[in-house]
Amino acid sequence: MTAKIISGRDIAQRIIEKELNPRVQKLKQKGITPKLVVIFVGDHSASASYIKQKEKFSALAGVVSEVRRFPESLSEEALLGEIAKINADKSIHGVIVQLPLPAHINMKKVIESIAPTKDVDGFGEANNKDLDVRESSLPPCTPKGIMTMLEKSKIPISGTRVVVMGRSHIVGRPVAEMLLYKGALLKVLHSQTPPDEAARALKEAQVLIVAVGKPELIHGEQLSKGVIVIDVGIHKREDGSMCGDVHFDSVSKVASLMSPVPGGVGPMTVVSLIENTVKAAEQKL
Ligand code: GUN
Repeated sequence: MTAKIISGRDIAQRIIEKELNPRVQKLKQKGITPKLVVIFVGDHSASASYIKQKEKFSALAGVVSEVRRFPESLSEEALLGEIAKINADKSIHGVIVQLPLPAHINMKKVIESIAPTKDVDGFGEANNKDLDVRESSLPPCTPKGIMTMLEKSKIPISGTRVVVMGRSHIVGRPVAEMLLYKGALLKVLHSQTPPDEAARALKEAQVLIVAVGKPELIHGEQLSKGVIVIDVGIHKREDGSMCGDVHFDSVSKVASLMSPVPGGVGPMTVVSLIENTVKAAEQKL
C-alpha cells in the first residue's frame, strides 16, 4: 500500500478561493477590510519564515497584514502597551504575537492581554473553552486546521478510533476536545502513557494525529494497514531538509492517507488564522 497524500497546501488554497475570497468581498462591499497585525519580537529565523507565509496567505485572501517588528530587548511593559493600543484600534480585527518570545517576557501574560475578540491565534483562555461549540469563538488555529483537513478529506470521525499523541495546550489538548465533540472514540497518548499501552493504542488507531515534537518518532511497523495519519511536527534535519514527527517512508507503506511535511498541517494552520481574522471582522458588522 502507498498512502494517498492529504495536501494541506491544496485544501488551504481551495478554502481561500472558494470561501475566504467571497467573504472578504462581502465585507469590503460594506466598507470593512479585514486587517491582521503580527507582532514579531527579536529575529528568530523560523518565526521569520512563518510570518512570510502568514503575509502571503493574507494577501491571497484579500486581508491586509502588517508586521510590527521590535528588538529582542523590548520590555514586557512596552509590549503590553503596544497590545493595548491595538486592542483599542477599530481598524485592526486580529493580532498575533509570534512565538517564541524572549525569555524576559511573560508569554501567558502577553497572550491574555489580547482582547479575546482579536485573539486570532486562539491562544487565550477565553477562546479555549467549549471548543467547537461556541460559534462566536476564535478557535486555536492548528487544531482547527486539522479538523478542517479531516472534514474536507471526508474522513468520518464519529465512532472512529482516533488516537492523539501529545497533550500540549496549543495542539494535543484542544484537538482532542474538538474530536470528542465530533464523536470520536478518543485516546490521548503522552509522556506518561506506559509503552505497552501506547503500542496497543497505536495498533488499534484508525486515525492517528501526532503532535509530540520529536522528529520521525512514529514508524510504519507500529501501525495497522489503512490507518489515516496527520503529522503535526515540523523539524529541520542537519542537511536542511524538513521532516515531521512521522517517519514518512515507512508510514506511507501502511497508511491509506497521510499528511506530508511540509505542505500538510502548516498551511492549514495559516489558513485557519486568516479565517479567524475574517470571522473577527465579520463579528464587527
Ligand atoms: N510560533 C510557531 N507557530 C506559531 C503560531 O501558530 N502562532 C504564533 N503566534 N507563534 C507561533
